[in-house]
Amino acid sequence: TTLTVLDNVPFGTVSGENLFFALRIERPEWADWQPGQFVMLRPEGWALDMMWARPFSICRVSKRDLVIFFQVVGRGTKRLATLKTGDKVVLWGPLGTPFAVEDKTPTLLLAGGIGIAPLVAYAQKHPQPWNLHMEFGHRMPLNCYPFESINERITAANHHERSPEDLAHFLDLIETSIAEYAESDGLVLACGPTPFLKAVQAFAAKHNARCQLSLENRMACGVGACLGCVTKTTEKMTAKGVAAGRAQACEHGPVFWADQIIL
Ligand code: FES
Repeated sequence: TTLTVLDNVPFGTVSGENLFFALRIERPEWADWQPGQFVMLRPEGWALDMMWARPFSICRVSKRDLVIFFQVVGRGTKRLATLKTGDKVVLWGPLGTPFAVEDKTPTLLLAGGIGIAPLVAYAQKHPQPWNLHMEFGHRMPLNCYPFESINERITAANHHERSPEDLAHFLDLIETSIAEYAESDGLVLACGPTPFLKAVQAFAAKHNARCQLSLENRMACGVGACLGCVTKTTEKMTAKGVAAGRAQACEHGPVFWADQIIL
């Protein structure tokens, strides 16, 4: 589908540079989507070697728009940052396996950096603020999101900002929270870069917590065909079509139970 960009708002400036953007585009004609799912997106008309489609977690879908967050990390995302109102993007989705939803279960949301996007989606679509607890160890300032409704929800959901200088302290806090949620048979949902997910996975195993991780693997096709996003799995992975200890993050994920994958 080709869709129009409504706006592309920078947020979370680091050292005077805009590294984080909220890209808002017109709403696709979808019947349904679930938090944890993603879209493949590329700007229309750009040479393919400049910008293959990339996967982006869905952050919000409202009556009028669809929002994704992205971080400028390389050539492609630098180009994405230049998108402006009225530009066109090519997008397909929603793709992938979403987060588990257990409405009455205390749920801990753990975000590493821009990995906050699908968790914002979860917090919005399943509004149980007393059950949500978000910890955030990145350099984005607190409440920087460009949409008031998102900021309000996160504040109500016990959003804690942690100093990036104090990573050990942050990891301690994550572990304590995971242990608490494990004790009350809660659910832990996390998204972020691999080292962050590895830490969450290790704590979840140690405290026997039920935990799902959303991977930020690179993807080229998004539909299980190119094998560019393969993740190693454990014997606990029983999903249909997963063979020889390998699963495609785009198709069988990006959300996996933490004990089903090897990071
Ligand atoms: Fe092609 Fe997953 S991105 S198989």
